[in-house]
Amino acid sequence: MSNLDQQLRQRAYDEVKKHRREVEVDPYRLAYHVMPPVGLLNDPNGFIQFNGAYHLFYQWNPFKTDHGAKFWGHYSSRDLVHWEHHEIALAPSDWFDKNGCYSGSAIEHENKLYLFYTGNVKDEANNRETYQVMAVSDDGQQFEKKGVVINLPEGYTPHFRDPKVWKHGEHFYLIIGAQAEDLTGKAVLFCSDNLQEWEHLGPIAGAHMGPLNDFGYMWECPDLFELDGQDVLIFSPQGLEPSGIYYQNLYQAGYVIGKMDYEKVQYEHGLFIELDRGFEFYAPQTTVDEKGRRILIGWLGMPEEREDAHPTIEHKWIHSMTIPRQLKGINGKIYQQPVTELQELRTNHCAYENVELTTKAQGFEGIEGEALEIYLETLETVTQPIKIHIRNHANIVYHPTDKLVKLDRISYVDGKTVEERFCHLQQLTNLRIYLDTSSIEVFVNDGEEVFSARIYPKQEDQGISFAADGSERVKIEAWTLKSR
Ligand code: FRU
Repeated sequence: MSNLDQQLRQRAYDEVKKHRREVEVDPYRLAYHVMPPVGLLNDPNGFIQFNGAYHLFYQWNPFKTDHGAKFWGHYSSRDLVHWEHHEIALAPSDWFDKNGCYSGSAIEHENKLYLFYTGNVKDEANNRETYQVMAVSDDGQQFEKKGVVINLPEGYTPHFRDPKVWKHGEHFYLIIGAQAEDLTGKAVLFCSDNLQEWEHLGPIAGAHMGPLNDFGYMWECPDLFELDGQDVLIFSPQGLEPSGIYYQNLYQAGYVIGKMDYEKVQYEHGLFIELDRGFEFYAPQTTVDEKGRRILIGWLGMPEEREDAHPTIEHKWIHSMTIPRQLKGINGKIYQQPVTELQELRTNHCAYENVELTTKAQGFEGIEGEALEIYLETLETVTQPIKIHIRNHANIVYHPTDKLVKLDRISYVDGKTVEERFCHLQQLTNLRIYLDTSSIEVFVNDGEEVFSARIYPKQEDQGISFAADGSERVKIEAWTLKSR
């Protein structure tokens, strides 16, 4: 480890120490989500199960609640519920990553853990350079940078980053988010036999390729994997225009489903589907665990979108991860379900069978507070709008005639404006809501659609109420959730 590396790490640890109290007294500190100890967290990186433990690295700026020269922070967990914070995995201390150890992924090979990430470099004139870098570890704790393994190939701008690596058959593959020289977003494939030398195979998907036309100027954080017999490509395109209820956020995160022909280096796929219908969700990453589950964690944040208005920055931290979600491929869509381990957080169960909701909003004993799981079912019988009012701050509304689910919240920018997001369904059957001190994740129809958002209700507003435009009978269950 160089002197500079040690100094940077020390400065980061000092920053954690200096602000620990201020961070911890924030009433918006989350109870069971992964957060930064101080500063800004963005993308999940290097998500993997290694020697039994889940490792989750994250883009981290310890020095301010803004973007900058990122470190890789490091958490691990035995159960996807309790997370332990570790030493910094990567610090931006080398010529090839001096302006940030940007996003990337992990793979196990011959009992070692390999990380692949983007070294972000900017010169005095702010021109960007990009290097794909490898680091290796025996124990999953200490990482040694091995240097640059991929230089920028011809045909792309320096917006070329976020390597995701996996093994298929005898070969290793790596996919990168890119901007082609004609300023269109692409996902670019590389191949290797030894993780060291990489062959550039070219773009396998992108704007103006396959069924995607105008599809953004940059694709970030691609992730290609098999799910229930099909090949899914998740990516985060930038530059899509809003269209009706779609593409409402500044940037999108979603997927296409198809078939990857590794021999011909061809990926045939369908149209883009957003992974999340809420306000804050970006740059998700997946891994397969020892149980064979494909698990996704996303960033419960959105870059550049009024980030300086989040109230947590007064307490010197910003953003969190989503809860871990298991993916399933069903009828041409990806369903996301909270991993079953999260049931471990449940205490104080209550259930209301066949309750009548009416125009008068009503609360239920046991269903209030800041950290809760709420489950509503038998919603297929509902014929008039129903509404769940959350802590005087957000609402989930279902309009059965239009088959629309809406999440609204009060804007964190002015504390007044009501903002809305929607999803369209064939039919609503159930809703599972994960509430935390300052977040909400709504899983619609066993995860057919998901809404993720940060919410900042007043602390004294702990109530949750339910109403319908007429008389509707539903089943409601709820649990208080423990802090991890
Ligand atoms: C996505 C992203 C990545 C980049 C990282 C930098 O949010 O912009 O493309 O590697 O964040 O922190």
